[in-house]
Amino acid sequence: MLEHTIGVDLGTTGARAVRIDGRGTLIASETAAYPLLTPQPGWTEQEPEAWWQAALTAIRGVVEASKAPIGAVGVTGQMHGAVFLDEDDASIRPAILWNDQRTARAAEQIDDAVGRSRLAQITGNRALTGFQAPKILWLREAEPANYARIRSILLPKDFLRLRLTETRATDASDASGTLLLDLAARDWSAEILRTLDLPAAWFPPVSESPAVTARISDDGAHATGLRSGTPVVAGAGDNAAAAIGSGVVRDGGGLVSLGTSGVVLVHNDRAAIDPTGALHAFCAAVPGGYHLMGVMLAAGGSLRWLRDAFGRPDESYNALVASAAGIEAGAQGLQFLPYLAGERTPHMDPGARGAFIGLSLAHGRAHLVRAVLEGVAYGLNEGLARMRALGVEPDELIATGNGMSNATWRAMISAVLDRPLRRLLVDEGPAFGAALLAGVGSGNFASVDAAARVVQLAPTADAPDPELVSIYRAGYERFTRAYPALRSLRDSVAVLS
Ligand code: XUL
Repeated sequence: MLEHTIGVDLGTTGARAVRIDGRGTLIASETAAYPLLTPQPGWTEQEPEAWWQAALTAIRGVVEASKAPIGAVGVTGQMHGAVFLDEDDASIRPAILWNDQRTARAAEQIDDAVGRSRLAQITGNRALTGFQAPKILWLREAEPANYARIRSILLPKDFLRLRLTETRATDASDASGTLLLDLAARDWSAEILRTLDLPAAWFPPVSESPAVTARISDDGAHATGLRSGTPVVAGAGDNAAAAIGSGVVRDGGGLVSLGTSGVVLVHNDRAAIDPTGALHAFCAAVPGGYHLMGVMLAAGGSLRWLRDAFGRPDESYNALVASAAGIEAGAQGLQFLPYLAGERTPHMDPGARGAFIGLSLAHGRAHLVRAVLEGVAYGLNEGLARMRALGVEPDELIATGNGMSNATWRAMISAVLDRPLRRLLVDEGPAFGAALLAGVGSGNFASVDAAARVVQLAPTADAPDPELVSIYRAGYERFTRAYPALRSLRDSVAVLS
């Protein structure tokens, strides 16, 4: 009999575990939340201990959901985060996250030390503030006493693996987000580590996503209810795992994901690189595969900000979106720039900031909501436009992530992108992809491709509404002009002050 598998996702807002059977049918899922710490504007941190406690709750929930044996576990999570561990594997300080913007200077130092073109040649990427390596250089300068205690550095999901198995390991997709990986070799770049003066021993061995890297330890078993010795596969960064969970494993297949971040991703059999660095080139969870990705830092995060900032943190997102459904497309001239956390694609500007443009007495809260939904859709379109500029056009786009479960928002995004968006019958996100990878590791599936074949898509995708498409075409054109205008205003204010 095929055994069940479990996938665990350490997201930005909480941990999610899913349990599937040997054919990929969802059996159970469980989530547990944790807080996001913002000790200074532009800084984002989380306590690894809070991840661990939430992951335990989520894992125990799905372990207890059925008596069937569990054949393997897969881990996934927010990419790029830095967990600094001392000689006892204790976390030295809160982890610094993917959307943290404190590292502009460190990113420049990496550019200068390695050379921008050499960095792109080796890693496929530019030195962007969110990636892991600049966080390490930041710590070296800002917190030398903490830096001196480092014995290893892990990505978020790999910290979870360490706690579960007492083993250090990572996978090529997540390691791509450090800026220390040789993209072609799918292993750490000795040249970059040497140039940045970082000990290779701090970083865990890199495997392909479905490879078994470790086994649940006695302590891990005691804490979770899993059997001691259960295999744990390498797993993947959350977007790579979401691609598996969305069946995106073929050259040209694509997805649009709407969580805290917003992602447009296309799978490539061979690495495609954006010479401007606005799109990330990462290894995929399909062994030997790659993807090209545009990332917005505050997509669902912008809607959460609006809800919380206007004092209704208990309001559901669906109620919030519904409140804007009656407002006409274009929000009566009100425009929102979703750069609340700086922006990666397409601006690569940690200093970018959000804005409402065109406010009038006629606008109420519902207009603000509508403008936020539309601004996020325009931001996603900038990622797709950047792909087009490189001659890469996904042939199909799968819609995934919590935000995409809302039909009103999805219709707006589909109209802005002017593309049908195909939904998943079961959208359990990265955790589902990680459970499928575990299914490969446990022998339920012969390959990642075979595992991805169990993903069920909605039979059809709704075509975008032509009227909305034409309104949003004009809105997008206006949107793309707003950032450069505000940027020049910011530069002139900076000169004056
Ligand atoms: C990808 C990225 C985000 C995080 C969010 O480059 O930074 O999508 O992985 O979880």
